[in-house]
Amino acid sequence: MPPVADTFGRPLRNLRLSVTDRCNLRCSYCMPEEEYVWLPKPNVLTFEEVARTVAAFTALGVDELRLTGGEPLLRADLPVLVRMLAAPRRLREIAMTTNGVLLADHAVALRAAGVDRLTVSLDTLRPATFRLLSRRDDLPRVFAGIEAARAAGFTGLKLDTVVIDGVNDDEVPALLDYARGIGAEIRFIEYMDVGGATHWSPERVVSRARLLEQLRAAHGTVHALPRTDSAPAERFALRDGTTFGIIASVTKPFCSTCDRSRLTADGMWFTCLYATHGEDLRALLRSGADDAALCERIREVWRGRRDRGAEVRAALPERRALAEAASLRANPHLEMHTRGG
Ligand code: GTP
Ligand code: 5AD
Ligand code: SF4
Repeated sequence: MPPVADTFGRPLRNLRLSVTDRCNLRCSYCMPEEEYVWLPKPNVLTFEEVARTVAAFTALGVDELRLTGGEPLLRADLPVLVRMLAAPRRLREIAMTTNGVLLADHAVALRAAGVDRLTVSLDTLRPATFRLLSRRDDLPRVFAGIEAARAAGFTGLKLDTVVIDGVNDDEVPALLDYARGIGAEIRFIEYMDVGGATHWSPERVVSRARLLEQLRAAHGTVHALPRTDSAPAERFALRDGTTFGIIASVTKPFCSTCDRSRLTADGMWFTCLYATHGEDLRALLRSGADDAALCERIREVWRGRRDRGAEVRAALPERRALAEAASLRANPHLEMHTRGG
């Protein structure tokens, strides 16, 4: 069946599945506050509920699944869930975004269970900056996690770096060297004003243009590679063939090709990173709806989708953090760590 399309003709293809809202780091661009309100445990979908929901999405055209969090490796028995999701063989790919801290313990089991590809968040190579950014001392564990992933046979490893002015912008060339050394593709991400980013300000964003300037100064000619899919990263290559990406959600939004949506650990479905309203699929599941009704609801919502959140934000005359801490406490579904980074 061809994927269902929204009002702008964008297909429903990529589902980001947050398996927990908890995290073991406190990155300043995502979780800068002291206190958080967590999703109530009884609301968190069981593995059976997740598998049923994902099956409904695959029936409508989703063929790429990404496990996210919070930190997905905090969800107990994650490989069991991965096996359940991989078993129907309807997904072209199961990927996972992790902060890497617990990866060394789980890499082998994840690979055996059916995770195809990993993206590890890595914002710095300096222990002091890592501590400043994430309020934890875990950089050696992240490096160990990356090594364990390579040893477990993961290929196509990606690294995600959120670049913040005055924090890690001076490390961009060194991070690219590190990625090249381990055969990973690094993507530099503009600091986004998403829910949770209460410390965001336009001055702290390191733009795509500035990143390219800096990389040209350090590494010479950089040329753009043709786009091959709807992924948010624009890809570039250095003269020696090393490739890297830039995700310019702030200065060059890619809403026009966005085929992704997000399911939170408690079954709220968001059709945009910036959406304020989600569809409560948990309520539908637990009301006894059958698979056909679940599919129908998803189809109906996607067909009415008009979101272009990053473009709307980019057009604002004056831009500041999207949400205040109090409103995030009142509605934790607005948080990036709840809806999946
Ligand atoms: P692959 O390229 O297929 O590996 O996946 P991906 O590009 O989706 O990678 P990943 O999940 O690591 O996302 C990278 C970053 O892109 C995220 O951490 C966000 O900063 C940004 N991003 C992801 N999804 C969205 C989205 O729906 N909208 C916007 N504006 N930015 C997003
Ligand atoms: N800006 C950009 N990316 C963010 N992430 C979380 N918060 C932000 C933000 N404010 C993304 C990062 C991180 C992943 C887990 O979530 O890419 O690596
Ligand atoms: Fe950092 Fe990701 Fe945890 Fe947010 S969810 S605090 S970005 S590791």
